[in-house]
Amino acid sequence: MGTIGRRVAVVAISVIVSVSAGAETFGMRKQIPRPDAYGRVVMDSFATKAQVAPVVFDHWNHRNRYTCRLCHVDLGFAMRAGETGVREADNRHGLYCGACHNNKEAFGWEREERQGLTTKPVEACDRCHSVGKAITPEKDFYAVTQAMPKSGYGNHVDWLAAEAKGLIHLQDELPGITRKRKPIRYAGEVVLHAREFNMPEIVFSHTKHAVWNGCEMCHPEIFGVEKGATKYTMQDIFEGRFCGACHDKVSFPMNFDCRLCHTKDVF
Ligand code: HEC
Ligand code: HEC
Ligand code: HEC
Ligand code: HEC
Ligand code: HEC
Ligand code: HEC
Repeated sequence: MGTIGRRVAVVAISVIVSVSAGAETFGMRKQIPRPDAYGRVVMDSFATKAQVAPVVFDHWNHRNRYTCRLCHVDLGFAMRAGETGVREADNRHGLYCGACHNNKEAFGWEREERQGLTTKPVEACDRCHSVGKAITPEKDFYAVTQAMPKSGYGNHVDWLAAEAKGLIHLQDELPGITRKRKPIRYAGEVVLHAREFNMPEIVFSHTKHAVWNGCEMCHPEIFGVEKGATKYTMQDIFEGRFCGACHDKVSFPMNFDCRLCHTKDVF
């Protein structure tokens, strides 16, 4: 272990001790999900009550095509599992999942099936309402991600590199649904000071974040647009706020290597 590694390990232990109140999990997942299940959301606000199977939404199968911004800003999906309150009627009216799952952008709730000489629409509910059902998904995780650059955590895909190398192309709008917007470029790098002795500082890259998140995923709701305006601690992040609003859930996990963020040695 290098000197930074040792320091981080020491700090990690001291942080765990100092927040002993929540020390059992330290705000982190106890179980590491399989690569294909990282970023999976099971939606069941209404399904079970309405006697249909809960819905499985996988981020890997959507973030390889669309920006986070498109869904979480333009289409209005909440950043917490279960908070959107999507109803089947919304989808049929072209909102939420229905903005795409309309048999145009992606499969819909019915598909045409050939019966003799004619075709008839049959229900295709199970592709979404799949919990507890033996469904073979159209897109296999390992086949889709096979040629992508690898990482050792999360989906085991280096998403930034996959995008930078042109292996995936992120769509930031839906014709006829979202309004056209001019991309706002901002290349500022912000060095965030980790207010603790010996802890490497964090270099936050706007360029890398804006590819997926635009500006509105973070400003002004999560971070003020002024350096130092927003006060928070590592514990807040572990509890799922600030950087933790995305990291540890969909973006790379936090317990794998602290130096994925704490990159800048202060000595
Ligand atoms: C593109 C994905 C998708 C497809 C296809 C789909 N649904 Fe849903 N459906 C959802 C989502 C998301 C919810 C909200 C789940 C929740 O939070 O409980 C939902 C909820 C429901 C509910 C709960 C009650 C309510 O008012 O929302 C019913 C009933 C339902 N769907 C029936 C169907 C039927 C029947 C079909 C096929 C004809 C179907 N769905 C196809 C995504 C889908
Ligand atoms: C195709 C649409 C879509 C895209 C693209 C998308 N999301 Fe999501 N996201 C969702 C939906 C749907 C949910 C579940 C919302 C609910 O349950 O109410 C969700 C939930 C989340 C959650 C909460 C998860 C949890 O376990 O609480 C986070 C965090 C999140 N998304 C971050 C991201 C990030 C970061 C990106 C880009 C890398 C992204 N999303 C891309 C649709 C999308
Ligand atoms: C921005 C567009 C978009 C939105 C919004 C979106 N999807 Fe998708 N989704 C896609 C595309 C494109 C595919 C892959 C193409 C296909 O298989 O038709 C896909 C694939 C899927 C699959 C994989 C099915 C399989 O057999 O491989 C599921 C399940 C799914 N979406 C569920 C949902 C649910 C549930 C929601 C809403 C909570 C949602 N999607 C919102 C575009 C979207
Ligand atoms: C993933 C989250 C995220 C995204 C997306 C994001 N920012 Fe930021 N932004 C931050 C953080 C974190 C800071 C530092 C805040 C602090 O120090 O309190 C910041 C600071 C700033 C600052 C002040 C910088 C300084 O040095 O004073 C500006 C200006 C800014 N952002 C503009 C933008 C613009 C324009 C976009 C879109 C191109 C954008 N941001 C996208 C997280 C984000
Ligand atoms: C709105 C969601 C969101 C928030 C909030 C967010 N990130 Fe990210 N971050 C992403 C996405 C998406 C990526 C792409 C890689 C991935 O998904 O794992 C990323 C990648 C990164 C990377 C790798 C790129 C690089 O610069 O080398 C670092 C480091 C990082 N984030 C640090 C932070 C820090 C520190 C904060 C808080 C100040 C933060 N992030 C807040 C979504 C977010
Ligand atoms: C997603 C990015 C990210 C990851 C991963 C991350 N940190 Fe941080 N950390 C930050 C940011 C941003 C700050 C600055 C917050 C502040 O103090 O203003 C910070 C601050 C800290 C501080 C300073 C004191 C405090 O409580 O704010 C300590 C200690 C710390 N982190 C420990 C860790 C440890 C240990 C790990 C690995 C288990 C880790 N961090 C992983 C982003 C991250």
